[in-house]
Amino acid sequence: MEVGRMLEIVSDTPHETERIGSLAGEMLKNGDVVALSGELGTGKTTLIKGIAQGIGFDSGEVVSPSFTFINEYDGPLPLFHIDLYRLENEKELYEIGYEEYMQGDGVVVIEWADKVPHAVPEESLWITLRYLDAERREIIVTARGARYEKIIEHLRKKLYT
Ligand SMILES: Nc1ncnc2c1ncn2[C@@H]1O[C@H](COP(=O)(O)OP(=O)(O)O)[C@@H](O)[C@H]1O
Ligand SMILES: [Mg+2]
Repeated sequence: MEVGRMLEIVSDTPHETERIGSLAGEMLKNGDVVALSGELGTGKTTLIKGIAQGIGFDSGEVVSPSFTFINEYDGPLPLFHIDLYRLENEKELYEIGYEEYMQGDGVVVIEWADKVPHAVPEESLWITLRYLDAERREIIVTARGARYEKIIEHLRKKLYT
């Protein structure tokens, strides 16, 4: 494990996953990108609810963008919630204006980012969720770029000290 760049957390409840999201969310700034991966039902959307809360949204506002790829939330910092579960090919990315969101104003969070790894900015925060059992998830946070190491530091401090 590379200390500083990576953090492995075990979440025991959905609430805990939301809290982890919230702690990351309170550190996010304009232009940041969070890339999420993990099988269906591992807690990506739950984590995003927390991220939204951390930014300053009411987490109840956040729902999965099932029939569109993108939900936009206007708030203290605009939040773009992209869910690529139904993405069939990369061409569709350009049809939804994906690139503009990447350079735009606000925070971008992408579910199923691993479907389009090279379309995710090199500097980004990756969070991978893994199913352990009914209520437990392994959450691996990786900073790509120095900017995101600060978020990992913050998580470590808040969760373990
Ligand atoms: N520790 C946990 N963290 C997150 N979700 C959990 C956890 N334990 C159980 N769950 C349940 O797993 C499901 C996760 O759903 P969701 O967040 O929509 O996942 P995804 O977006 O990855 O498909 C929810 O029903 C949630 O209540
Ligand atoms: Mg989801």
